[in-house]
Amino acid sequence: MFGSGYLANSGIIPALIDREDLVLIDELAHACLWAGARLSRATVLPFRHSDVAHLETLLAEHRGRHPRALVATDGVFSMDGDLAPLPELAEVALYHDAWLMTDDAHGIGVVGGGRGSTFAHGAKVDVPLQMGTLSKAIGGYGGYLCASSAVIDLIHNRARTFIYSTGLPPATAAAAIAALDLIERDPAYAALPLAKARTFTRLLNLPEATSPIVPVVIGEAGAALKASQLLEAEGFLVIAIRPPTVPAGTARLRFTFSAAHPDAEIERLAAIVRQRILER
Ligand SMILES: Cc1ncc(COP(=O)(O)O)c(C=O)c1O
Repeated sequence: MFGSGYLANSGIIPALIDREDLVLIDELAHACLWAGARLSRATVLPFRHSDVAHLETLLAEHRGRHPRALVATDGVFSMDGDLAPLPELAEVALYHDAWLMTDDAHGIGVVGGGRGSTFAHGAKVDVPLQMGTLSKAIGGYGGYLCASSAVIDLIHNRARTFIYSTGLPPATAAAAIAALDLIERDPAYAALPLAKARTFTRLLNLPEATSPIVPVVIGEAGAALKASQLLEAEGFLVIAIRPPTVPAGTARLRFTFSAAHPDAEIERLAAIVRQRILER
Protein backbone atom coordinates (compact mmCIF):
# COMPACT_ATOMS: atom_id res chain seq x y z
CA MET A 1 0.00 0.00 0.00
CA PHE A 2 1.04 3.56 -0.78
CA GLY A 3 -0.45 6.78 0.55
CA SER A 4 -2.44 7.27 -2.68
CA GLY A 5 -2.74 6.04 -6.25
CA TYR A 6 -0.70 8.99 -7.46
CA LEU A 7 2.08 8.13 -5.00
CA ALA A 8 1.94 4.49 -6.08
CA ASN A 9 2.45 5.21 -9.77
CA SER A 10 5.11 7.84 -9.12
CA GLY A 11 7.02 5.38 -6.95
CA ILE A 12 6.59 2.02 -8.66
CA ILE A 13 7.93 2.84 -12.13
CA PRO A 14 11.15 4.60 -10.99
CA ALA A 15 11.82 1.71 -8.56
CA LEU A 16 11.78 -0.84 -11.40
CA ILE A 17 12.92 1.17 -14.40
CA ASP A 18 16.06 3.25 -14.83
CA ARG A 19 17.62 5.85 -17.09
CA GLU A 20 18.80 3.32 -19.69
CA ASP A 21 15.41 1.53 -19.87
CA LEU A 22 12.27 1.93 -21.96
CA VAL A 23 8.68 2.78 -20.99
CA LEU A 24 5.87 2.40 -23.51
CA ILE A 25 2.73 4.11 -22.36
CA ASP A 26 -0.79 4.42 -23.76
CA GLU A 27 -1.29 8.02 -24.86
CA LEU A 28 -4.46 8.28 -22.73
CA ALA A 29 -2.95 6.72 -19.60
CA HIS A 30 -3.62 8.56 -16.34
CA ALA A 31 -1.41 11.54 -15.46
CA CYS A 32 0.25 9.69 -12.56
CA LEU A 33 1.41 6.82 -14.79
CA TRP A 34 3.00 9.52 -16.94
CA ALA A 35 4.53 11.09 -13.83
CA GLY A 36 6.08 7.76 -12.81
CA ALA A 37 7.36 7.16 -16.32
CA ARG A 38 9.00 10.58 -16.47
CA LEU A 39 10.48 10.31 -12.97
CA SER A 40 12.20 7.07 -14.00
CA ARG A 41 14.26 9.10 -16.54
CA ALA A 42 13.88 6.22 -18.98
CA THR A 43 13.09 6.71 -22.67
CA VAL A 44 9.31 7.19 -22.68
CA LEU A 45 7.42 6.38 -25.89
CA PRO A 46 3.64 6.81 -26.09
CA PHE A 47 1.67 4.35 -28.20
CA ARG A 48 -1.65 5.23 -29.82
CA HIS A 49 -4.65 4.59 -27.58
CA SER A 50 -5.18 0.82 -27.17
CA ASP A 51 -3.34 0.26 -30.48
CA VAL A 52 -1.56 -3.06 -29.96
CA ALA A 53 -0.06 -3.03 -33.48
CA HIS A 54 1.53 0.36 -32.78
CA LEU A 55 2.94 -0.93 -29.48
CA GLU A 56 4.35 -3.96 -31.28
CA THR A 57 6.04 -1.76 -33.90
CA LEU A 58 7.63 0.42 -31.21
CA LEU A 59 8.84 -2.60 -29.26
CA ALA A 60 10.28 -4.24 -32.40
CA GLU A 61 12.17 -1.03 -33.17
CA HIS A 62 13.37 0.02 -29.71
CA ARG A 63 13.31 -2.92 -27.29
CA GLY A 64 16.76 -4.24 -28.25
CA ARG A 65 18.49 -1.03 -27.18
CA HIS A 66 17.29 -1.11 -23.55
CA PRO A 67 18.01 -3.58 -20.74
CA ARG A 68 14.45 -3.41 -19.32
CA ALA A 69 11.10 -2.35 -20.72
CA LEU A 70 7.71 -1.66 -19.21
CA VAL A 71 4.33 -1.27 -20.92
CA ALA A 72 1.97 0.94 -18.90
CA THR A 73 -1.76 1.36 -19.41
CA ASP A 74 -4.96 2.03 -17.53
CA GLY A 75 -7.06 -1.17 -17.22
CA VAL A 76 -10.20 0.99 -17.51
CA PHE A 77 -9.57 4.45 -18.95
CA SER A 78 -10.57 7.22 -16.62
CA MET A 79 -12.06 9.68 -19.11
CA ASP A 80 -13.63 7.27 -21.65
CA GLY A 81 -14.51 4.26 -19.53
CA ASP A 82 -13.20 1.82 -22.15
CA LEU A 83 -11.21 -1.30 -21.30
CA ALA A 84 -7.60 -1.70 -22.44
CA PRO A 85 -7.08 -4.78 -24.67
CA LEU A 86 -5.23 -6.57 -21.88
CA PRO A 87 -5.00 -10.10 -23.38
CA GLU A 88 -3.31 -8.73 -26.51
CA LEU A 89 -1.11 -6.29 -24.59
CA ALA A 90 0.02 -9.11 -22.28
CA GLU A 91 0.94 -11.31 -25.23
CA VAL A 92 2.97 -8.59 -26.95
CA ALA A 93 4.68 -7.56 -23.71
CA LEU A 94 5.62 -11.16 -22.92
CA TYR A 95 6.98 -11.75 -26.43
CA HIS A 96 9.24 -8.70 -26.14
CA ASP A 97 10.27 -9.42 -22.55
CA ALA A 98 8.60 -6.28 -21.23
CA TRP A 99 6.72 -5.87 -17.97
CA LEU A 100 3.01 -5.09 -18.29
CA MET A 101 1.69 -2.68 -15.69
CA THR A 102 -1.99 -1.77 -15.36
CA ASP A 103 -3.59 1.05 -13.43
CA ASP A 104 -6.88 -0.48 -12.29
CA ALA A 105 -8.23 2.56 -10.42
CA HIS A 106 -11.52 2.29 -12.31
CA GLY A 107 -11.61 -1.49 -12.60
CA ILE A 108 -11.27 -2.83 -9.07
CA GLY A 109 -14.65 -3.45 -7.46
CA VAL A 110 -16.75 -2.83 -10.56
CA VAL A 111 -15.62 -4.93 -13.56
CA GLY A 112 -14.59 -8.57 -13.86
CA GLY A 113 -16.96 -9.66 -11.08
CA GLY A 114 -15.43 -7.01 -8.82
CA ARG A 115 -11.91 -8.38 -9.32
CA GLY A 116 -10.95 -5.71 -11.81
CA SER A 117 -9.87 -5.42 -15.43
CA THR A 118 -7.56 -8.45 -15.26
CA PHE A 119 -10.72 -10.55 -15.00
CA ALA A 120 -12.89 -8.55 -17.42
CA HIS A 121 -11.79 -10.38 -20.58
CA GLY A 122 -12.93 -13.95 -19.89
CA ALA A 123 -9.88 -15.86 -18.66
CA LYS A 124 -7.63 -14.09 -16.17
CA VAL A 125 -4.92 -12.09 -17.92
CA ASP A 126 -1.39 -12.46 -16.64
CA VAL A 127 -0.50 -8.92 -15.53
CA PRO A 128 2.70 -8.93 -13.45
CA LEU A 129 2.24 -5.39 -12.07
CA GLN A 130 -1.33 -4.43 -11.10
CA MET A 131 -1.71 -1.08 -9.47
CA GLY A 132 -4.90 0.54 -8.25
CA THR A 133 -6.40 2.96 -5.80
CA LEU A 134 -8.80 2.63 -2.90
CA SER A 135 -10.27 6.03 -3.74
CA LYS A 136 -12.93 4.91 -6.26
CA ALA A 137 -15.11 1.81 -5.78
CA ILE A 138 -13.45 0.96 -2.47
CA GLY A 139 -14.66 4.32 -1.16
CA GLY A 140 -11.51 5.09 0.83
CA TYR A 141 -8.01 6.34 0.25
CA GLY A 142 -4.64 4.81 -0.63
CA GLY A 143 -2.89 3.17 -3.59
CA TYR A 144 -1.80 -0.45 -4.00
CA LEU A 145 0.42 -2.69 -6.04
CA CYS A 146 -0.20 -6.41 -6.57
CA ALA A 147 2.92 -8.17 -7.83
CA SER A 148 5.21 -11.11 -7.07
CA SER A 149 6.75 -11.17 -3.60
CA ALA A 150 10.18 -10.49 -5.14
CA VAL A 151 8.85 -7.30 -6.75
CA ILE A 152 7.09 -6.25 -3.55
CA ASP A 153 10.34 -6.73 -1.59
CA LEU A 154 12.14 -4.54 -4.08
CA ILE A 155 9.40 -1.88 -3.90
CA HIS A 156 9.65 -1.86 -0.09
CA ASN A 157 13.33 -1.09 -0.41
CA ARG A 158 13.42 1.19 -3.44
CA ALA A 159 10.16 3.05 -4.02
CA ARG A 160 10.79 6.53 -2.67
CA THR A 161 7.09 7.42 -2.35
CA PHE A 162 6.65 4.31 -0.19
CA ILE A 163 9.72 4.77 2.00
CA TYR A 164 9.61 8.53 2.54
CA SER A 165 5.88 9.10 2.93
CA THR A 166 3.60 8.13 5.80
CA GLY A 167 1.61 4.92 5.44
CA LEU A 168 -2.16 4.65 5.68
CA PRO A 169 -3.88 5.30 9.01
CA PRO A 170 -5.19 2.00 10.45
CA ALA A 171 -8.83 3.11 10.20
CA THR A 172 -8.39 3.71 6.46
CA ALA A 173 -6.90 0.24 6.01
CA ALA A 174 -9.76 -1.29 8.02
CA ALA A 175 -12.37 0.53 5.92
CA ALA A 176 -10.73 -0.76 2.73
CA ILE A 177 -10.68 -4.33 4.04
CA ALA A 178 -14.38 -4.06 4.89
CA ALA A 179 -15.14 -2.78 1.38
CA LEU A 180 -13.10 -5.56 -0.24
CA ASP A 181 -14.93 -8.14 1.90
CA LEU A 182 -18.25 -6.76 0.67
CA ILE A 183 -17.15 -6.88 -2.98
CA GLU A 184 -15.83 -10.42 -2.59
CA ARG A 185 -18.97 -11.67 -0.80
CA ASP A 186 -21.48 -10.08 -3.12
CA PRO A 187 -20.45 -10.03 -6.80
CA ALA A 188 -24.04 -9.17 -7.78
CA TYR A 189 -23.69 -5.90 -5.85
CA ALA A 190 -20.32 -5.21 -7.49
CA ALA A 191 -21.96 -5.72 -10.91
CA LEU A 192 -24.62 -3.02 -10.29
CA PRO A 193 -22.63 0.11 -11.34
CA LEU A 194 -21.91 -1.37 -14.78
CA ALA A 195 -25.51 -2.58 -15.13
CA LYS A 196 -26.73 0.96 -14.31
CA ALA A 197 -24.32 2.46 -16.84
CA ARG A 198 -25.67 0.04 -19.44
CA THR A 199 -29.24 1.10 -18.67
CA PHE A 200 -28.15 4.68 -19.37
CA THR A 201 -26.33 3.87 -22.64
CA ARG A 202 -29.28 1.75 -23.81
CA LEU A 203 -31.76 4.56 -23.11
CA LEU A 204 -29.66 7.01 -25.12
CA ASN A 205 -28.61 4.62 -27.90
CA LEU A 206 -24.96 5.12 -27.02
CA PRO A 207 -22.33 2.39 -27.49
CA GLU A 208 -22.82 -0.13 -24.67
CA ALA A 209 -20.93 0.86 -21.51
CA THR A 210 -17.93 -1.36 -20.68
CA SER A 211 -17.43 0.23 -17.24
CA PRO A 212 -19.44 2.52 -14.95
CA ILE A 213 -17.84 5.55 -16.69
CA VAL A 214 -19.79 6.87 -19.67
CA PRO A 215 -18.52 9.88 -21.61
CA VAL A 216 -20.89 12.01 -23.67
CA VAL A 217 -18.74 14.20 -25.88
CA ILE A 218 -20.16 17.72 -26.24
CA GLY A 219 -17.31 19.45 -28.12
CA GLU A 220 -16.54 22.93 -26.86
CA ALA A 221 -15.57 23.49 -23.24
CA GLY A 222 -18.20 26.22 -22.67
CA ALA A 223 -21.02 24.02 -23.93
CA ALA A 224 -19.88 21.12 -21.73
CA LEU A 225 -19.80 23.42 -18.68
CA LYS A 226 -23.30 24.71 -19.44
CA ALA A 227 -24.62 21.16 -19.80
CA SER A 228 -23.02 20.24 -16.48
CA GLN A 229 -24.69 23.23 -14.78
CA LEU A 230 -28.06 22.31 -16.30
CA LEU A 231 -27.74 18.79 -14.86
CA GLU A 232 -26.66 20.13 -11.47
CA ALA A 233 -29.80 22.27 -11.35
CA GLU A 234 -31.74 19.04 -11.91
CA GLY A 235 -29.93 17.35 -9.03
CA PHE A 236 -27.29 15.40 -10.98
CA LEU A 237 -23.57 15.86 -10.32
CA VAL A 238 -21.95 15.27 -13.72
CA ILE A 239 -18.53 16.81 -14.18
CA ALA A 240 -17.56 18.59 -17.41
CA ILE A 241 -14.14 17.35 -18.46
CA ARG A 242 -12.28 19.91 -20.53
CA PRO A 243 -8.88 20.37 -22.20
CA PRO A 244 -6.09 19.83 -21.28
CA THR A 245 -7.46 16.74 -19.49
CA VAL A 246 -8.97 15.66 -22.84
CA PRO A 247 -8.00 16.77 -26.39
CA ALA A 248 -9.31 20.13 -27.66
CA GLY A 249 -12.79 19.93 -29.18
CA THR A 250 -13.70 16.81 -27.15
CA ALA A 251 -14.92 18.42 -23.92
CA ARG A 252 -17.41 16.02 -22.43
CA LEU A 253 -19.80 15.15 -19.67
CA ARG A 254 -18.43 12.27 -17.66
CA PHE A 255 -21.21 10.20 -16.13
CA THR A 256 -20.24 7.71 -13.43
CA PHE A 257 -22.76 5.28 -12.04
CA SER A 258 -22.86 3.70 -8.61
CA ALA A 259 -24.83 0.81 -7.12
CA ALA A 260 -26.91 3.36 -5.21
CA HIS A 261 -28.38 5.18 -8.23
CA PRO A 262 -32.10 4.35 -8.53
CA ASP A 263 -33.24 3.21 -11.99
CA ALA A 264 -36.01 5.85 -12.05
CA GLU A 265 -33.38 8.58 -11.63
CA ILE A 266 -31.31 7.10 -14.46
CA GLU A 267 -34.38 7.24 -16.67
CA ARG A 268 -35.01 10.87 -15.69
CA LEU A 269 -31.34 11.69 -16.34
CA ALA A 270 -31.39 10.05 -19.77
CA ALA A 271 -34.54 11.95 -20.74
CA ILE A 272 -32.98 15.29 -19.74
CA VAL A 273 -29.77 14.51 -21.59
CA ARG A 274 -31.68 13.52 -24.71
CA GLN A 275 -34.15 16.41 -24.76
CA ARG A 276 -32.15 19.29 -23.33
CA ILE A 277 -28.54 18.53 -24.24
CA LEU A 278 -28.23 16.21 -27.24
CA GLU A 279 -31.25 17.40 -29.25
CA ARG A 280 -30.63 21.13 -28.82
C1 LIG B 1 -6.72 6.00 -13.51
C2 LIG B 1 -6.32 6.68 -12.23
N1 LIG B 1 -5.17 6.34 -11.65
C3 LIG B 1 -4.76 6.91 -10.50
C4 LIG B 1 -5.51 7.88 -9.89
C5 LIG B 1 -4.97 8.51 -8.65
O1 LIG B 1 -5.40 7.83 -7.53
P1 LIG B 1 -5.46 8.62 -6.12
O2 LIG B 1 -6.64 9.52 -6.19
O3 LIG B 1 -5.61 7.52 -5.11
O4 LIG B 1 -4.18 9.37 -5.98
C6 LIG B 1 -6.74 8.28 -10.47
C7 LIG B 1 -7.62 9.31 -9.88
O5 LIG B 1 -7.68 9.70 -8.80
C8 LIG B 1 -7.15 7.66 -11.66
O6 LIG B 1 -8.30 8.02 -12.25
